Amino acid sequence: MKPLFYRLILITSGCVLAGCNRTFVVPETVDSSVSASGPVSFNTHIQPILSENCYHCHGPDSGTREPEKEPLRLDREKYAFENRADGKPVIVKGDAGASLLVRLLKSKDPDEMMPPPKSHKELTPDQIAMIERWVDQGAIYEEHWSFIPPKRPEIPSSEAAINPVDTEHHVTGTANMRCVQLSRFL
Ligand code: HEC
Repeated sequence: MKPLFYRLILITSGCVLAGCNRTFVVPETVDSSVSASGPVSFNTHIQPILSENCYHCHGPDSGTREPEKEPLRLDREKYAFENRADGKPVIVKGDAGASLLVRLLKSKDPDEMMPPPKSHKELTPDQIAMIERWVDQGAIYEEHWSFIPPKRPEIPSSEAAINPVDTEHHVTGTANMRCVQLSRFL
């Protein structure tokens, strides 16, 4: 028998023992939910709600913008905090209780509630609570996601990982890399 053949068997079985036959699973890192006390992100949590329920009348299209007399825009930071006819902005940074926008979202009066009943749009209590928290946290409009430099997610070391499943992903990943490196010598 050729020595190369023995080397092949040795390396292959080594790889199998080291766990090469396992599938490498990339852990889920994108999480659109937010814990009750965590920071609320405009781009992830707020923009989709406003875009779906408000931008038709308070967004970029000047043809459908409301109210006619004093159109309100919520899609751009520079307009969202402008003083209105009553001398106050509809969003008071850091104070949901003083923000007309939050009051109208919670209103049950069909003459003032937002979105208006005729739009057939309705926010869930969770979505209203999310907007309230965003205002309380300072109503920060983030830049569009494409201008935000990407952040590298932290990779837990196998010693530090508390979750045994995470540890396994990384250990298995390392084993797979070694096998790929070994197979290059064949
Ligand atoms: C179908 C159109 C329409 C939609 C959709 C809509 N609005 Fe309005 N909005 C109006 C109109 C019309 C007024 C003026 C009402 C009035 O004067 O009584 C208004 C007024 C407001 C005001 C008060 C402005 C001021 O200075 O008095 C706020 C705040 C507001 N809307 C927020 C929202 C939010 C937040 C949403 C989405 C959750 C929304 N609106 C969805 C039509 C709309």
